[in-house]
Amino acid sequence: MIKLFDLTGKIAIVTGGLGQLGTQYTKILLEAGAKVAVFDIKIDKLNSFYLSNKDNPNLEIIKVDITKKKSIKDGTKNVIEKFGVPSILINNAALDTPPGNPAAENGPFEEYPESFLDKTYAVNLKGMIFCCQVIGKIMAENQHGSIINISSIYGYISPDQRIYEYLEKDGNKFFKPISYSVTKAAVLNLTRYLATYWAGKKVRVNSLTLGGVFNNQDEEFLKGYCQRVPLGRMANEDEYNGAILFLASDASSYMTGSNLIIDGGFTAW
Ligand SMILES: NC(=O)c1ccc[n+]([C@@H]2O[C@H](COP(=O)([O-])OP(=O)(O)OC[C@H]3O[C@@H](n4cnc5c(N)ncnc54)[C@H](O)[C@@H]3O)[C@@H](O)[C@H]2O)c1
Repeated sequence: MIKLFDLTGKIAIVTGGLGQLGTQYTKILLEAGAKVAVFDIKIDKLNSFYLSNKDNPNLEIIKVDITKKKSIKDGTKNVIEKFGVPSILINNAALDTPPGNPAAENGPFEEYPESFLDKTYAVNLKGMIFCCQVIGKIMAENQHGSIINISSIYGYISPDQRIYEYLEKDGNKFFKPISYSVTKAAVLNLTRYLATYWAGKKVRVNSLTLGGVFNNQDEEFLKGYCQRVPLGRMANEDEYNGAILFLASDASSYMTGSNLIIDGGFTAW
């Protein structure tokens, strides 16, 4: 790892770190020399990467529900005791509503249920703010930190609902829901707000806006989605790791309040 991207001695927290992309982020941060604490709500089922790293002294998996500030505080205390003061926070945990979820979650905007709005706001937005309040505060006190807030192309532009038309079933139309889009849009200005708020405390805050990741989606979805992508395909799950390393390390030392978009060109036309 060249020096510019070296994270030796740094302590990182990855929320939602057990998920598809969180696993990749943990992997690359460890490779760059960081000690990594994963905060996740479901820690009973570990994927093969975590199973094979169970005894890695630089990795700690901690059960944290980011919708509860006390849970974040307890988890962070645990990190400080085990590794020391964190200086990297990847706010990655979020709820999406894939096609398999209850029909109402992906139904028309006019009838979108309040309970699903609340559920998504609680994790995608309030949970992220809580993590910044608890962990960002410690970084500010220590005058050192990089926070990376994960957003989505659907928080930057509107979903192209035509991609999802084929999912209509029994007369129920499928729409990529409002809750995901508005919470991911809010992440972009939370980033700018905190970047200016903590600029004097040497805490940098940036967002990383991602396009869709290949995860064995059905052929029809892949056809519709990939037609919309200038590079003609979804991302592989490790294709955001370079950006994570860049944003977490001194390679991005003059960058704060920015949004890095990596989407195969999805938002370019
Ligand atoms: N996968 C994609 O195609 C894609 C595209 C654009 C953006 N993103 C964004 O990337 C991030 C990760 O996506 P992913 O596909 O890896 O998702 P994922 O569902 O595989 O992982 C999300 C993780 O968050 C955890 N989590 C959920 N609620 C939590 C809570 N209350 N407290 C702590 N942890 C909680 C889950 O247990 C899970 O491990 C999300 O912010 C998502 O919006 C993903």
